[in-house]
Amino acid sequence: MIPRMNLINRSVVTFFALFILSACSSDSGPDELPSNPVSGAQENPEPNNPGTTTDPSVDSMPDSMMPVDGGDNAPGGPVAALVLSPLPSPSITEDPSANDEPIPQASELNTITSFQVVRDPAPRIPFKTQAAEFSEEDFARGLPEAVVTVPPGLDTTSNAPPFFEGLENVRVSAGDIVEIRYIPRDPEGELPGMFAQELPEGATFDDNFDGTRTLLWQTFQADVGITAFTVVAIDPVDSLYRSSQTLLIAVDENPTSVEPNIAPTIEPVTSYTVRVGDPAVVLLDGFDRNGTTPTIELLNPPATATLTPDERDPDLQWLQVIPDEVGTVTIDVLTRDEIDPELTGLDQITFFVRPASDFERSGARLKDAAAGSGLLFGSAVSPVFYLQGDGGVYESVASTEFGIMTPESSMKWDAINPVPGEFTFADMDNLMQFAALHSMSVRGHPLVWHRSLPSWVEATAVNDREVHMREFITRVMNRYGEGIDYWDVINEPLNDSDGNMRQSIWYEAMGESYIDIAFAQAKELDPTATLVLNEFDIGFAGPKFDGLLQLIDRLQARSVPLDAIGFQMHVFSSYDQFDELGANMAAVVERGLDVHITELDVAIADGGNASQQAAVYAGVVNTCQAQPRCNVLQTWGFTDRYSFRTFLDPLYLNRSYQVKDSYGAMQEALGNN
Ligand code: G3I
Repeated sequence: MIPRMNLINRSVVTFFALFILSACSSDSGPDELPSNPVSGAQENPEPNNPGTTTDPSVDSMPDSMMPVDGGDNAPGGPVAALVLSPLPSPSITEDPSANDEPIPQASELNTITSFQVVRDPAPRIPFKTQAAEFSEEDFARGLPEAVVTVPPGLDTTSNAPPFFEGLENVRVSAGDIVEIRYIPRDPEGELPGMFAQELPEGATFDDNFDGTRTLLWQTFQADVGITAFTVVAIDPVDSLYRSSQTLLIAVDENPTSVEPNIAPTIEPVTSYTVRVGDPAVVLLDGFDRNGTTPTIELLNPPATATLTPDERDPDLQWLQVIPDEVGTVTIDVLTRDEIDPELTGLDQITFFVRPASDFERSGARLKDAAAGSGLLFGSAVSPVFYLQGDGGVYESVASTEFGIMTPESSMKWDAINPVPGEFTFADMDNLMQFAALHSMSVRGHPLVWHRSLPSWVEATAVNDREVHMREFITRVMNRYGEGIDYWDVINEPLNDSDGNMRQSIWYEAMGESYIDIAFAQAKELDPTATLVLNEFDIGFAGPKFDGLLQLIDRLQARSVPLDAIGFQMHVFSSYDQFDELGANMAAVVERGLDVHITELDVAIADGGNASQQAAVYAGVVNTCQAQPRCNVLQTWGFTDRYSFRTFLDPLYLNRSYQVKDSYGAMQEALGNN
């Protein structure tokens, strides 16, 4: 039994915050609620004249870039297509080996009944919260810069973002209580709102009823290390105008501290809406503030409930239940303290079990409605959906509504190759099995992007980056190429809101020619696939789309094998620039390219509603259908429950997989053309 802490030892560490305001990261991307331009206003100087090589790095192409015959460099004539020099052998990072091959997973650990799910052999545990690792160097660099997100149409020249007064990173010893007061301020003088994104275990964020809040956190040995705590300030004028401020708390070892023995629990578990008869699984991850590992037991479980240790980490238990009748199933989970078995925790998991008929939708399936006019319709598919409690319903919708799927995150570099020489293919392998089983096309997404890169990739030497990029492209296309018809070869090469090139690590190493090289590599590996350049915030007139057209012209002048442009279309229910979208599509088609809508979702903007959202879905479908070379239309998910913009209800099934106005509006628009 750990004796109760001697209160005299309590040292309360109190800080008043000093805030440093900063511009938002250029890499925020549409995760941070994409911004629409201030309509009609050019926020950036016009990019250089089209057709001229404005990117100095293009003049200094690396050897692998030089055209085979020196090229026809006569002004105006396209240069010969690029032929890449062979990749070095052996490769500069270890290739996948038999040790990386996924292996069958016990069926009790997933919701799939239609194919054999595989898992990675290495100890990569899905769902274990892998909070972003912060180092002592990060701590020493001081308070992280705030990330400011600007909603569509807001004039920031007359409204500076909110901020917190007096914040700074905090260092304590295990056993101390951290106390930090958050004082939100707004340059225009009003009082901002605020909310905490994720509290440290056991912490509270109390309202002081004077516009401020205080974080109180009793630390333990289990908290030794660096914890990031983020609070978001909300502009008093526009609630979508926000400043997200992270603060680092370093908890040092303290061998002399004595701590109370806290009852164990399981990591937070949500409830699920499930279909009667579908297997449902939930990961049970025992947690104890004292850093020990509790045991887990089910109290009076349903007859179909099983508890199976994870195959790589036996401390994790998978609950599987196959609800056989409609109603609410609540399962009591008892956790028992490792040191004092009499000290227990009790948690509940709830399944709302509904008849299969509740998940039947009238009218044509969306892929069938679209097929009538030759349009390929689909969606992104969530990673490890088959490890979620409602994986059965999720699969039933995706397998019937979509003719093409994009892995939302399963093919990204940090998902596939998190450590040099270590490959985690299982999730993508499972999604490929799923697509093949249901005769779905697949969009490989993305091959080259500036985000979701493992830290080891971001740390590569500039001179090695071309080879690293080409090796990743080669490994992914060699493994999945057979089943993939479309590749997002380059994702988001332009700055968030202007037409200039994004200063990514790829651009830093190769200039604009990283695009040429990536497309040449993809073409070499799969000459028959459709190769796509994918971008967001190009569905309306403005400097970003102008810059895209100039980029296309430069690439085509260099004979880059580009086949289509992906319009992501992460928009708001206030979007109404359908004419501009149509004109932008036409400008792309004039260059001999196809157009795809690749990531459509429609967030409910301030004051917006479901019928406005439905009108936008229908408007985008109609605009695509009106363009003969708009031949693929995909949404970015389909249930609000699993959207990266979930708080803005951007999709067309709700969290219980029931249709919203947008579903019917899309179904009608797809079928009408
Ligand atoms: O897989 C890990 C999991 O093991 C871990 O426990 C968990 C918590 O740390 O993180 C999980 O990874 C998350 C991943 O989604 C899979 O769920 C990443 O943290 C998270 O950053 C990632 O977010 C995705 C984001 O791209 C970045 O890759 C979003 O879900 C996804 O919707 C978004 O999609 C992008 C498109 O690829 C490109 N266009 C813009 C679009 C929106 O940003």
